[in-house]
Amino acid sequence: MTRSEWDPENLPDLSGRSYLVTGATRGLGYFACEQLAAAGAHVLLTGRNPHSLSAAKAAVKRSIPDAAVETLLLDTSNMGSVRAAAATARARGRLDGLLLNAGVVHPPKQRETVGGHELVFATNVLGHFALAGELLKPLAAARGRMVWVGSMSTSLWRHLPTDPELREGYTPWKAYVQSKAATTALALEADKMLRAHGVPVESLVAHPGYSTSGRTRGVRGVNEPSRLTRFVDNLQAPITQSKEQGAWALVRALVDPHAEGGSMYGPALVARGAPRRATPARATRRGGLGTDLWRACETATHVKWPFERARRAAS
Ligand SMILES: NC(=O)c1ccc[n+]([C@@H]2O[C@H](COP(=O)([O-])OP(=O)(O)OC[C@H]3O[C@@H](n4cnc5c(N)ncnc54)[C@H](OP(=O)(O)O)[C@@H]3O)[C@@H](O)[C@H]2O)c1
Repeated sequence: MTRSEWDPENLPDLSGRSYLVTGATRGLGYFACEQLAAAGAHVLLTGRNPHSLSAAKAAVKRSIPDAAVETLLLDTSNMGSVRAAAATARARGRLDGLLLNAGVVHPPKQRETVGGHELVFATNVLGHFALAGELLKPLAAARGRMVWVGSMSTSLWRHLPTDPELREGYTPWKAYVQSKAATTALALEADKMLRAHGVPVESLVAHPGYSTSGRTRGVRGVNEPSRLTRFVDNLQAPITQSKEQGAWALVRALVDPHAEGGSMYGPALVARGAPRRATPARATRRGGLGTDLWRACETATHVKWPFERARRAAS
């Protein structure tokens, strides 16, 4: 397969590779797991609800009977859960890639986590920062990759994470958009830091365009949209795609051997289409944003990425 050709429905053979996906119980995370498993990868499905995890695992198995899938409880909004899951994942061995996908789009009324952080920032950003740091050594040992999930909303709304916990001027949408600007800036910053420390792990960012459940095939226990959702989502058909198609860009960023650290992937027509190289919103590349966020994440999570130990693990 050449650099420009990529068939998301015919992935390279991933036998012997192992990937961990957050938010694997539905949506893009679930379909990414299906696609990875169908290509022969071992997939660790993670999620915060044991029943949803069992349903997702059963669904992958119905679709790919010989799939190598395991489940692991992981609530990205809870640092204790992140540390416990990372310890279990480390004990399970080889890790080629991390798909940092879990996300809250429409936050509940409860705005704070048990740890006292703004819920959207904690779920979408802090949990993933901590998880990637906790799993850096096994990723480095496998010369692996991490993919952070951004959003095209960061090009449409300029909500930068300069006040990441939104102590001033909270709105749910602002919380969401700035969390996605933060994942993009952190993905780029992580790649710079990994290169600077000589750690052979690549960090990329991907976005799924506009992918809706009502445009996605039904999967028992995973994707069961109401008739009203199907109707409303179908009205937007020209500018949307299924979550299965939305997962293509995430999976390409994770497994395309030609994809490079520090790059971004998204649908060819921005909101929909085949997975292609994309450009992160200009504001997310602003000088200093990534370093400021990095410090804020270290302070909030008490996780410092073990660059030196990761470099030694790879040698
Ligand atoms: N769909 C789009 O058009 C779109 C566009 C841009 C970006 N994105 C991003 O893509 C990612 C996935 O979106 P989606 O459309 O697949 O959303 P979704 O269908 O709502 O699925 C979200 C997934 O994240 C999980 N999750 C939420 N909070 C969690 C937590 N605290 N701990 C662990 N897992 C948690 C959910 O688990 P539960 O089942 O337990 O709730 C679910 O598996 C998100 O990061 C989102 O921001 C999506």
